[in-house]
Amino acid sequence: MANVYQTMERAELDACIAQLEQEAEAVRAKGLSLDMARGKPSVQQTDLSRPMLDLISSESDLVDEGAPADNYGIPDGLPSARRLAAEILGVDAANVVVNGSSSLNLMHDLVVNGYTRGIGGNEPWCKQGTVKFLCPCPGYDRHFAVTDRYGIVNVPIRMRDDGPDMDEVERLVQSDSTVKGIWCVPKYANPTGVTYSDEVVRRFAALKPAAPDFRIFWDNAYVVHDLVEEGDKLLNIFDALEEAGNKNLVYEFSSTAKITFPSSGMAFVTASPDDIAEIRAAFAIERVSPEKISQLMHVRFLQDAAGVRAHMAKHAEVLRPRFELVQQKLDDGLSDLGVATWTNPRGGYFVSFDGPEGSAKAIVSLMRELGVTLTGAGATWPYGKDPLDTNIRIAPTFPSLEDLGAALDVFVLVVKLVSARLAREER
Ligand SMILES: Cc1ncc(COP(=O)(O)O)c(C=O)c1O
Repeated sequence: MANVYQTMERAELDACIAQLEQEAEAVRAKGLSLDMARGKPSVQQTDLSRPMLDLISSESDLVDEGAPADNYGIPDGLPSARRLAAEILGVDAANVVVNGSSSLNLMHDLVVNGYTRGIGGNEPWCKQGTVKFLCPCPGYDRHFAVTDRYGIVNVPIRMRDDGPDMDEVERLVQSDSTVKGIWCVPKYANPTGVTYSDEVVRRFAALKPAAPDFRIFWDNAYVVHDLVEEGDKLLNIFDALEEAGNKNLVYEFSSTAKITFPSSGMAFVTASPDDIAEIRAAFAIERVSPEKISQLMHVRFLQDAAGVRAHMAKHAEVLRPRFELVQQKLDDGLSDLGVATWTNPRGGYFVSFDGPEGSAKAIVSLMRELGVTLTGAGATWPYGKDPLDTNIRIAPTFPSLEDLGAALDVFVLVVKLVSARLAREER
């Protein structure tokens, strides 16, 4: 369907563009410096976890259920940390390793393990010629960067409203033995906010990969990150695997990065008993032992799944107004123009925005000129190549409400201007 600019008479369109350009010049003159680029928690959110820092002192008991936190050893993580991680993911603590402070780091290490050592006794991927990972798009640029770094071919797969296009996933995974993995963010996906439907999770769990060393990288980064009281419900992939009679298929990851402090928390991974044994063996070479004092602080602060939920409700109170402001500004500014669509997620860290074809790069670039930084256009696709150049990731969590409102006003103006110019170029 034509958008409002495409239906205007030429003179009316010229006048409209002149008016918008004048408004853009007025914004430029303000010399703004605003940032809506990366999904970082705001200061109000990280402040919520400051009391955790008071829970460990020189007087503290540094032993967790018989496991000393103040020395080497306990390679799978402290018992109470593994239990907390297991509760968050709804899995058996026996199959959980808590290690490091970044889940992306664990994902990276397991890609490297597949690439250099091989998975399940198979040849390392580096000796198998061309190997591929599937990349649901729009998706998380840092995932794509990990596989790209090792020369693994990133293959885009379309995201739908209920998860990745499973016909395509099944077709490729089940017919092509060079497909070794898929990047998934199953709850409140980065950046769409989509939570995979039960059917999609079941179809993942029932995959019969052509490659025995294929694994699903199930990055449940936003597992407890609801913005509303009744958040989305994600089917537990390990329950679905059991139903499907499948075993060594999934590595699931998460961390406390956006629960407490990014890059100073606990990261964890769970997998089948066979896979977790292999993961343990890899980690045993890579690390002497995990950051157990940080783990101790986390379990004393968060305690259990109920403690995590209560803490996340406080995050939601900080974040909800920001996400509501995004919807309000976009609705007020753009909903009547037919130029764009955007998501309205019930959790996570992002809103995914699609403008007219061929607009995203121009929007991001003009935004930068006017003093507002956005995630680079194309970042949500492998190799930075958004085939239609439509998608922009909006990250509303970090700026103050005031700055966010100002940045969104500029965004609405720029989307209008770029859309109007495109309509004129098309003639
Ligand atoms: C989907 C996803 N996974 C992982 C991460 C990074 O998590 P961590 O800090 O635990 O490495 C992010 C951060 O934005 C993310 O969006």
